Amino acid sequence: MRLIFLGDVVGRSGRDAIARELPLLRERYRPDLVVVNGENAAHGFGITEDIFLGFLAAGADVVTLGNHSFDQRDALIFIERYPNLLRPVNWPKGCPGRGSALVDTPSGRRVLVLQAMGRVMIEPMLDDPFPVVERELEACPMGLACDAVLIDFHAEATSEKMAFGHFCDGRASLVVGTHTHVPTGDHQILPGGTAYMSDAGMCGDFDSVIGMEKSEPIQRFLRKLPVERMRPAEGPATICGVAVETDDATGLARMVAPIRVGGRLSQAIVSAWEIEVP
Ligand code: FE2
Repeated sequence: MRLIFLGDVVGRSGRDAIARELPLLRERYRPDLVVVNGENAAHGFGITEDIFLGFLAAGADVVTLGNHSFDQRDALIFIERYPNLLRPVNWPKGCPGRGSALVDTPSGRRVLVLQAMGRVMIEPMLDDPFPVVERELEACPMGLACDAVLIDFHAEATSEKMAFGHFCDGRASLVVGTHTHVPTGDHQILPGGTAYMSDAGMCGDFDSVIGMEKSEPIQRFLRKLPVERMRPAEGPATICGVAVETDDATGLARMVAPIRVGGRLSQAIVSAWEIEVP
């Protein structure tokens, strides 16, 4: 099975790039499932219902969130209507919405999509993600109750992300980090067969400070005072993400590759999936 995950979409630049490029990626690579992190899509802070529906229209099957899940207050309401809009699964009991989804693909397979949030250098401090995800994986074992498992681990610290990847190794198809907005070069298949990448990178303008227009973040470092609101940078976005091919019998990864399309970063295509044109 072919899985595509695209990292945090930041502001209008990221949204426009998703609307333009995701239909082309679907046509080019024919993925069974596409997951997009949309927690910075509404001017950098949270997501609106219209933006979520726009991602589905562009070709996303599931949208994940993170620490900014409820920055747009309406999300507390509309998240209940969409089983394919996920906030971190380790949000304490009573939080609206859900953190996992069992998705039926058009090819007749089932994929468990999960999002969890780390607890190192990130707010809010949620429940411990390790035992929460342990329970989720035990309830839906890969190869038995589902054909693949995709986990978005939304965290700041690469140490926590790597520990979490190894914790899930052999029990998930992909553990991919989000939140830090910079694509890492450590994509690999771990010893137990789980594809891993510390951060997928953002879908946003890289002439910025992690997607935000750079003057305000720089002056905050210099003066330790806010002058104006942070706003997303508006130049052309690079779509950043990761592609995984899974084994149909076990759900484990057979191939993992980064995706980078458009904007300023060096481009990365999924050469293993390129269709030979005679
Ligand atoms: Fe985040």
